[in-house]
Amino acid sequence: MSQDQWTAVDQYINNLVIPPDAALEATLEASVAAGLPPINVTPAHGKMLHLLARAQGARRILEIGTLAGYSTIWLARALPPDGRLITLESDPQHAGIARANIARAGLEDRIDVRLGAALDTLPRLAEERQGPFDFTFIDADRPNLPEYFAWALTLSRRGSLIIVDNVVRKGGVIDAASEDPNIKGVRRFGERLAAETRVSATMVQTVGAKGYDGFTIALVTG
Ligand code: SAH
Ligand code: DHB
Ligand code: MG
Repeated sequence: MSQDQWTAVDQYINNLVIPPDAALEATLEASVAAGLPPINVTPAHGKMLHLLARAQGARRILEIGTLAGYSTIWLARALPPDGRLITLESDPQHAGIARANIARAGLEDRIDVRLGAALDTLPRLAEERQGPFDFTFIDADRPNLPEYFAWALTLSRRGSLIIVDNVVRKGGVIDAASEDPNIKGVRRFGERLAAETRVSATMVQTVGAKGYDGFTIALVTG
């Protein structure tokens, strides 16, 4: 098994079930052109998020970590016309590119890009009583992951779904001795998840065009 094979199979999946889409493709092109890191979700993963949000009947979605808005657009397209998505981004360049991509996709009316460190903007969402969110996608920096998960729970209701990206990190997550702050953040998150009585959760390992990683899916049950 190799990266070449995972990429080829992702291409096969894209050809089968992900029709060409001008707004999503333009979003990735603008992201590359601006020199943003290519760490958006893959098309297959983006569509999975979209399908989960749709199956959930989500009317209010929260995203932590916007980048160029690629996953944001996939998620917002799951919303009904009066639905709303709030996405949190700390980098002004990323937020600016995301806003342009979102406008090009015709989703400006449904998406609110909030600039600022998520640990500053999340308490504001609570103050504004923006919750509960039906669906939360956490995909920002890993060292703060346990705190983001705690906020996602605070801003959820029973029945909400919380998806957390990049929790396997090429298998690095099982290295208990790691000094890597990303691994430490993911492991600390795993401990909190295990101890959290208000969710039922699993983690799924994935391979594809973006390598070997995985995501957490947590259903808020209490
Ligand atoms: N969800 C996007 C990818 C997000 S990449 C997609 O799949 O298309 C992670 C993003 O989180 C980057 O844009 C980075 O700037 C942002 N980020 C990093 N630290 C942050 C913080 N403390 N608060 C908010 N956003 C942060
Ligand atoms: C990284 C971050 C991501 O959100 C991702 O999906 C892949 C990689 C990273 O920081 O390396
Ligand atoms: Mg990610």
